[in-house]
Amino acid sequence: MLEKLSLKNKTIVITGGGTGLGKEMCLAMARAGADLVIAARRLEPIKEVAKLVQDLGRRSLAITTDATNTSDVKTLFETTLTEFGKVDALFNNAGIVREDSPKPIWDIDDENWRVGIEVNLSTAFYCSREISKHMAENGGGKIINIASGFGFRGGRDNYMYAAGKGGIVNLTRAMATSLGKYGITANCIVPGFIPTEISDPDSKRSKERGKFIPIGRVGKPSEMGPLAVYLASEASDYMNGEFFALDGGALAGGIAPTLHAPEIPLEI
Ligand SMILES: NC(=O)c1ccc[n+]([C@@H]2O[C@H](COP(=O)([O-])OP(=O)(O)OC[C@H]3O[C@@H](n4cnc5c(N)ncnc54)[C@H](OP(=O)(O)O)[C@@H]3O)[C@@H](O)[C@H]2O)c1
Repeated sequence: MLEKLSLKNKTIVITGGGTGLGKEMCLAMARAGADLVIAARRLEPIKEVAKLVQDLGRRSLAITTDATNTSDVKTLFETTLTEFGKVDALFNNAGIVREDSPKPIWDIDDENWRVGIEVNLSTAFYCSREISKHMAENGGGKIINIASGFGFRGGRDNYMYAAGKGGIVNLTRAMATSLGKYGITANCIVPGFIPTEISDPDSKRSKERGKFIPIGRVGKPSEMGPLAVYLASEASDYMNGEFFALDGGALAGGIAPTLHAPEIPLEI
């Protein structure tokens, strides 16, 4: 049974894999046997993660990529296909979490809007568009998008992130509906509050925030790993167009960090 979860001989491309949740998903998938191509704008973090993947005995490549730039995206997949010959799964994980701080709508300029939507939504479209034909010709593949609870509800003064992640949710549905016949599935992970390196899950602040979550605590980045492995593996072959909230019951429990009562801090 567990053989179905093995990622041995699978080539997986992930955007934003040098930090936070992306890094943990890379390490989990490498432990499950996958080779990883890791793409982001900064070289140092993705190089470090590629090295950690290699230390686990897998092949890995760090490719500097601004996933909002379609020529970078083309190069990313051309290089991957030259080096690995195929792409079995794509994780669209790049996103702006902290830079996209909430502000009143009249203070958001064209550039803020354009960049916010480009990073939080268009990167997933550009990468999926670039590789899906190869996947179709190769007999199939898996696309895993990373959304957010904000893709399912609004947040006060939160425009580009919420609109972008809402777009990711429906892009997943559109791809699941359209690409299924080519053997390509599209699914979506919906993380809740998962502090990454900037805050400690055991800090007083994290504990305070955990009180608002049904399970009583915030998430740990490593908890993304098993779900990533499952969605990249054959064990999930019949899953298509699904949303997997990894949030301690936050959406189920109706927790809404909208900055309306009950108020909780938005930053992680
Ligand atoms: N942590 C949470 O609580 C949480 C909750 C809900 C959803 N999420 C989602 O989970 C994903 C990962 O977030 P995280 O918490 O791990 O934050 P993070 O550490 O800031 O990860 C975001 C990654 O995206 C990359 N990135 C940003 N812009 C990019 C671009 N134009 N091209 C390529 N890569 C780009 C960044 O690398 P570079 O800066 O080097 O490009 C970074 O590695 C995001 O989509 C986020 O929205 C996180």
